[in-house]
Amino acid sequence: MSTELKLSSPDLDELSAAVSGLGIQEKLLVECTEDFFSIIPELQKNLPDTFLWAPLIAGPDVWKGEIWKTSDESLHESVIGYMSYDHKRCDELYAEAEAAWNEGNPELAAEKLKSFDLGMKRHLGEEENILFPAFAEATGMVGGPVQVMLMEHDQMRGVLTQISEAMAANDMDTAIALGDTMVILMQQHNVKEEGILYPMIEQHIEGSMQEKIRSLQTYIAS
Ligand SMILES: [Fe+2]
Ligand SMILES: [Fe+2]
Repeated sequence: MSTELKLSSPDLDELSAAVSGLGIQEKLLVECTEDFFSIIPELQKNLPDTFLWAPLIAGPDVWKGEIWKTSDESLHESVIGYMSYDHKRCDELYAEAEAAWNEGNPELAAEKLKSFDLGMKRHLGEEENILFPAFAEATGMVGGPVQVMLMEHDQMRGVLTQISEAMAANDMDTAIALGDTMVILMQQHNVKEEGILYPMIEQHIEGSMQEKIRSLQTYIAS
């Protein structure tokens, strides 16, 4: 179940009240004509470890994001759980884009592809800016599996750029077809992260996982 909240400006009180009222597994779709991502870190401080969020559209005319509560503690307490969930979330955004395109709804397809692009870029950023450096610091390991993942990130970013270019040229057929290529790359990549690298990260990095997930959730607001 999901509800919608349209903010006329980034109003922390209004957003806090709406998130507090969410039931478990309920999703709040937030929309604002200004950048409300900047108040998410404050919202986290107000309601620590009670919700998760993800950006969907980052301007320039509208900002959209989704906020939800979950009874699945692994999403707040395990890097494997949190990051694997985000893999699935990105997969679904692409599947929704493809479905909208097949159903003759190009506007929705384009919006979903933009959310897919944003979701993927922030996900790669969470790994490259927070998780991989923390792992390198804890283990002193700089080559190996992380190096392989980084090369695959470059490959995926290349396809995301091609998707954006096709969309800018109004060539949605090509954009959707490239999305299929992207899904194959992602599946091969994600299986290695979920099966090998994330467990290694969880085993080695310092500090609580809960804290790491809080910082990942703050990172995607920037
Ligand atoms: Fe990755
Ligand atoms: Fe990943």
